[in-house]
Amino acid sequence: MECQICRGTGWIIEEIDGRRIAKRCRCQFERLSKVYLKEAGIPVRYRNCRFKNFNPETPYQLKALKTCINFFSRFPYVNRGILLYGPPGTGKTHLAVATLRNVVEYKGLKGIFCDFRGLLIDLKSSYEGKASASEILDSVRKVHLLVLDDVGAERNTDWAKDILSEIVNYRYTQSLPTIITTNLRFDDISGETFVEKFDERTESRIYDMCQIVKVEGHDRRKVGV
Ligand SMILES: Nc1ncnc2c1ncn2[C@@H]1O[C@H](COP(=O)(O)OP(=O)(O)OP(=O)(O)O)[C@@H](O)[C@H]1O
Ligand SMILES: [Mg+2]
Ligand SMILES: [Zn+2]
Repeated sequence: MECQICRGTGWIIEEIDGRRIAKRCRCQFERLSKVYLKEAGIPVRYRNCRFKNFNPETPYQLKALKTCINFFSRFPYVNRGILLYGPPGTGKTHLAVATLRNVVEYKGLKGIFCDFRGLLIDLKSSYEGKASASEILDSVRKVHLLVLDDVGAERNTDWAKDILSEIVNYRYTQSLPTIITTNLRFDDISGETFVEKFDERTESRIYDMCQIVKVEGHDRRKVGV
């Protein structure tokens, strides 16, 4: 149905201080955010993840939820992204997706969900034809908001290290916000730490560009809720 406000033109004319100014109609904003939502690449399993259906069970989860909501409210005026780390099934990807979705839906800005392991596979297959590697890399390097999911779940290779370092360095120097999720530890108590798997240069940049938030709780996948 044709929009009643702009009669389908997509534009409305407003008079400000005696000057006529063309403004994009609200219907265009809604159309655009629908397109962006499709392009965001949110995985099917996570399509219903919202802030309102995230039920924090531990103080860690509550803090993570608050950090994400706060980030979304301020977006795009945010100084830092977020790094969520912790054991499997504690809601890191859920929160990252909910934040991304809100930014795209309510702020009308572009964002991309990128599974790090999937990205490496896409980059590998790009050498066999498909989209070019630089096109793929550019799409994640330059997007307004990037969710980099499950960093560290891939095999340990110098190549994977280089790709992560490349993305992180680009977004760091361009001050573009990134939300990262990982099982690797950012403290030095036990388990494999981020710096062991990657390197100090990348870790140092992440500390500067992200709020580091620990997410602990029980593994939701094990109880099926
Ligand atoms: N606090 C929560 N409230 C509601 N649902 C949750 C919560 N925590 C996790 N879930 C749900 O549990 C499932 C697993 O969560 P999720 O995939 O976000 O875990 P994760 O921390 O990213 O795990 P991994 O480290 O293995 O990637 C998802 O379906 C998610 O929606
Ligand atoms: Mg996850
Ligand atoms: Zn309209």
